[in-house]
Amino acid sequence: MFQSIERRPPDPILGLTATFKKDTNPNKVDLGAGVYKNESGNTPIISAIKKAEQKLWETEDSKSYIAQAGPEGFNRHMASMVLGENSAAINDQRACSVLTPGGSGALRVIAEFVSANFPNTRTWISSPTWANHIPLLGSAGLNLVEYPYYNYDKHEIDIDQMMDTLKQATAGDLVLVHGCCHNPCGGDLSKEQWQAFAEAAEKQGFTPFVDLAYQGLGDGLEEDVYGVRLLTEKLPEVIIASSCSKNFGLYRERTGAVIMLGESADQISASASQLLSTARQIYSMPPSHGAAMVEMVLSEPELKQEWLLELTEMRERINGLRSQLVAKFKEIGVDQDFSFIEREKGMFSFLGLSPEQVQTLGDDYSIYMVKSSRINVAGISNSNIDYLAESIAKVL
Ligand code: LMR
Repeated sequence: MFQSIERRPPDPILGLTATFKKDTNPNKVDLGAGVYKNESGNTPIISAIKKAEQKLWETEDSKSYIAQAGPEGFNRHMASMVLGENSAAINDQRACSVLTPGGSGALRVIAEFVSANFPNTRTWISSPTWANHIPLLGSAGLNLVEYPYYNYDKHEIDIDQMMDTLKQATAGDLVLVHGCCHNPCGGDLSKEQWQAFAEAAEKQGFTPFVDLAYQGLGDGLEEDVYGVRLLTEKLPEVIIASSCSKNFGLYRERTGAVIMLGESADQISASASQLLSTARQIYSMPPSHGAAMVEMVLSEPELKQEWLLELTEMRERINGLRSQLVAKFKEIGVDQDFSFIEREKGMFSFLGLSPEQVQTLGDDYSIYMVKSSRINVAGISNSNIDYLAESIAKVL
């Protein structure tokens, strides 16, 4: 039966991690998958999470299934972290939150929910977007269409072209936007651009679909949801896929949520029942471990404070590395302007290299990045920054 199965090429992002692991060059640099790393190249367990885990180990008394939507406390805290403590939508019971296996699980549940209930809907995605958005959402049956987002020459958002193309988005369409720290380009909408986007959604009637995978890693936990909150204050319907992988460092625990807003309490509870039925068809019941720890961290003031400090440390390290890399290029006499790296947010930026230059960096220097020249800034450290900048300068 399996004789006819053809081998798939490695995943464009995950394949890099495997190649990096195999490389024996002591100077190798991994700028591939979007995973936070500290100065020693490790992805540490956040200390507040470790403490929550210890407490959970001591107090958890059953491994029976949890509620299908996930723990009520987890959902309540996630909704207020994203929508705000005083969110009118929460107070009016127009918002629901459902625990999912990671942010990708949230994306998939949303995609299945949309394609089952609104089969003719179009979903607009930014060009570029996270490489896995296309197979993940497309294979659930979503009809994906692109809108221009990033100007590769100027290294800035092509807001005019974006808004011009989105004039075609109408009521019944979804428009997927990255809430902050755009993956892969690092270019986020300014406050004015969010306003323009929200006004277009209001006027044209399309529904924003926000992928929020990096809250807290751009400008701050509150600052990074400026756009999301604007949309949720202004519009009757918004869909959000929120991830705890990066900001809580819970990658392997697969913890995320679908947060959805509707026009009325009745409509949103009907939609939530559909989300649960969708989840039941895919993976049946949600994982508990990550959500239990997030709930503990968000509900216990001491743990929350400790987590916020560590999140700030991660964010500041990334932002510091952005400035350091730009300064290093200048210091070694690179003429090309890389100052955009300092203006961009979150883990990623495009270096603007050709696929051949990226290949040479991998083959000759053991420096690994996605073929589009997307780098994970968190993979830079004081010990590799000289080698990295000099190697890049050589291939320019
Ligand atoms: C990335 O974009 O590198 C991360 O979101 C990890 C992944 O699964 O692709």
